[in-house]
Amino acid sequence: MQTGGVTNQTVLITGGAGFIGGHLARTLVDDNEVRILDNFTTGRRANVPAEATLIEADCRDEDTIARATQNVDLIFHEAALVSVGRSIEDPQTSHEINTDATLALLEAARAEDARVVLASSAAIYGHPERVPIAESDPKEPMSPYGLDKLTIDHYARQYHELYGLETVSLRYFNAFGPGQVAGDYSGVISIFLEQALAGEPITVDGDGTQTRDFVYIDDIVQANLQAATTDAVGEAFNVGTGEAVSIRELAETVQEVTDTESEIVHTNPRPGDIDHSTAAIAKAEDRLGFEPTVSFREGLERTAAWARSR
Ligand code: UD1
Repeated sequence: MQTGGVTNQTVLITGGAGFIGGHLARTLVDDNEVRILDNFTTGRRANVPAEATLIEADCRDEDTIARATQNVDLIFHEAALVSVGRSIEDPQTSHEINTDATLALLEAARAEDARVVLASSAAIYGHPERVPIAESDPKEPMSPYGLDKLTIDHYARQYHELYGLETVSLRYFNAFGPGQVAGDYSGVISIFLEQALAGEPITVDGDGTQTRDFVYIDDIVQANLQAATTDAVGEAFNVGTGEAVSIRELAETVQEVTDTESEIVHTNPRPGDIDHSTAAIAKAEDRLGFEPTVSFREGLERTAAWARSR
């Protein structure tokens, strides 16, 4: 993938061994000096390119942050506790990883005058009054995770307004693609694909009428590269496709693309789950030049092919 004008920079990617961070690292490593900060809680060594410098440590550790940010030009902050369910079980850990560590990173970026592109989330909106959701719509997060992401999204804007730091918040909707590994706390597509390929039941939480806007990893990377060079600093952007897919429809499409015998079963609805989530992307289109390039179906087929090859 092209680097979208991000060249010859010293770039720190926190969570650089994770799903999104790993894709960013691979995209940038040939044309930049890439540093990865990851503690491998959910990250994978296979995601770290050989040419990158790895700092294996926890992003909550302030000495580590100081070391990792020394002389950096640009930071992609992807390290997070990404599971909504985990944040409900353990709000304090979510706060430490998602909020406190981000604040410390913004402080370090201020000292280095480094641009920060920060992973915010659609979870900040909670149950939306209407879809698609615009950036200025009400924000009533339903989970500690959503609250943490809302807090750092505000901090990013404030660091621009108060200190002139170049920050951009990207409010990811539901990212998916090759490299997203299924686990208790990972994204629904990776879980459904693993279940389908193992011939196990596909577990839909609740009635499956809840909807999500699934955005393919290449387009997440595209938005990050645009955020790294845009003049629209101090701003937040939705990163999605504008297309709503229900979880039931997702389960059925997974059955189709994997050609599985697996049945769909329904379990209890998930506490703190948001019902509908679709991005309005006009702001990202107009100001970043963002344009989704991979449809849900195409992305799912590519991801299923990858999952099958594992
Ligand atoms: C996801 C991301 C979060 C991101 C947010 C943006 C993960 C783990 N979380 O949260 O980091 O900020 O999108 O919108 O990637 N479901 C099932 N069966 C399962 C698993 C999930 O039916 O086995 C349902 C859930 O109840 C939910 C939907 O699928 O309704 C999506 O769940 P999930 O993939 O965990 O994502 P979000 O909670 O939207």
